[in-house]
Amino acid sequence: MLLPVIMAGGSGSRLWPLSRELYPKQFLNISGDYSLLQQTFSRLEGLDHQPPLLICNEDHRFIAAEQLRFGGYKHSGIILEPVSRNTAPAIALAALQAIQSSEQNEDPLLLVLAADHLIETIQAFQSSVEKAIHYAQADKLVTFGIVPTAPETGYGYIKADETEGDAFTVCKFVEKPDLKSAEEYLASGDYYWNSGMFLFKASRYLEELKKHRPDIYSACKKAMAVVVPDMDFIRLNKAEFEVCPDDSIDFAVMEKTDSAMVVPMDAGWSDVGSWSALWDVSHKDDNQNVTRGDVITVGSTNSYLHSENKLIATVGVHNLVVVETKDAVLVAAKDQVQDVKSIVSQLRDAG
Ligand code: GDD
Ligand code: MG
Repeated sequence: MLLPVIMAGGSGSRLWPLSRELYPKQFLNISGDYSLLQQTFSRLEGLDHQPPLLICNEDHRFIAAEQLRFGGYKHSGIILEPVSRNTAPAIALAALQAIQSSEQNEDPLLLVLAADHLIETIQAFQSSVEKAIHYAQADKLVTFGIVPTAPETGYGYIKADETEGDAFTVCKFVEKPDLKSAEEYLASGDYYWNSGMFLFKASRYLEELKKHRPDIYSACKKAMAVVVPDMDFIRLNKAEFEVCPDDSIDFAVMEKTDSAMVVPMDAGWSDVGSWSALWDVSHKDDNQNVTRGDVITVGSTNSYLHSENKLIATVGVHNLVVVETKDAVLVAAKDQVQDVKSIVSQLRDAG
C-alpha cells in the first residue's frame, strides 16, 4: 500500500511578506478555506494509502499538528527536522522511518508530495499516481511530468524518451536550468516540468542516494539510528543531522539516476511558488486584476493586489504586485517577483 510522505519544511520565501519564517506558505490559506498542507492531505482521499508521514521543521511542529487535528487528518507521525537540509535528506529520513516502523521491515511505496502545490483536478492526480504504481513496484523512481507552458527557471526539466505503456523512460533530468536552456527545452517540445512529486520504494530511494550521495545517506542513517517518539512527533539526533550536506532530491538523485521514469499528469497543477504564479491561477476581474481584501483600482490592469489591513488604491498601474501586511508592504514588478527572495535574504542578513 502507498505511504504518502508530505514534505512541509520549505520556507516559501518568494511569497514574502505573507509567507514568513515562522509561518511559511504551506501553512497559509492561499486559495480557499484550507491551507496548502491541508489540501495536500485532502487530495489523497479515495486513494488506497496508509496514513501519511509528515516531515517538517521543528519550529513548525505546533502549526502542523494543529492543522492536521483541525482537518481531522490521520497520519503516521510527524518527523521533526532540527535544521533544514533540503529535500534529499528529508526524504531519506522519511524512507528510513518508513522501513524501521513497519512490521517485519516492509518496504513501502513512498508517494512523496510537496505540501505547497495547488491541483485543480484531483481525479487526474490520483489516476497518474495509480498508473505510476506498476513502475515503482518494478524498482523505478517515478516522477510526474507537467506539460510546460513557459521557460520557468525554478523547475526541473525532464526529457522523456521511449514510452512503456503509461510512462516514459527519462533520458535527461535538468534541475533549475538557466533561461536560455529553459527556452530551448520549451521550444523542443520534448520536455516535461518535474512536478516535485515522486513515487518509489523506500529501499530504492535509499539505494540510489547511497550510490550518488553516500555522505547524505550516512548522515541520515546516523541521525535516525535512535529516534525518540514524543506524542505524534518523531525526533532524530540533532548533532548527526546538523553535519548532513544540504541538497535537493532533484540534484542529489534525479539528475544522476538511470532508473527514472515519468508519468504525465494533466491535473491543473501549479506550484504557486511566486506572486505571479499565484496571479496566474487566481480568479481575475475584468481588468485582469486579482484583488484580496480592501482594494480599489482605477485604470489599473494585470496586477495582484493583496491587502490585510489597509485600503490599497491604485491608479493607472499595470503588471504590479502590491502586498500589504501588518508590518511590511511589497511593491514589485510582476515579471520580477522571483527576486522577492533576495529581500528575504537581505532581511535575514540584517538580523
Ligand atoms: N521537510 C522538508 N525539509 N521539506 C522541505 C525542505 C526541507 O528541508 N525543503 C523544502 N521542503 C519542501 C517544501 O515545503 C515543498 O513542499 C517541497 O519540499 C519542495 O521544495 P521547494 O523548495 O519548494 O522546491 P522547488 O520548488 O524549488 O523545486 C522542486 O519543486 C519544483 C516544482 O514545484 C523541484 O522538485 C523541482 O524540480 C520542481 O520542478
Ligand atoms: Mg516549490
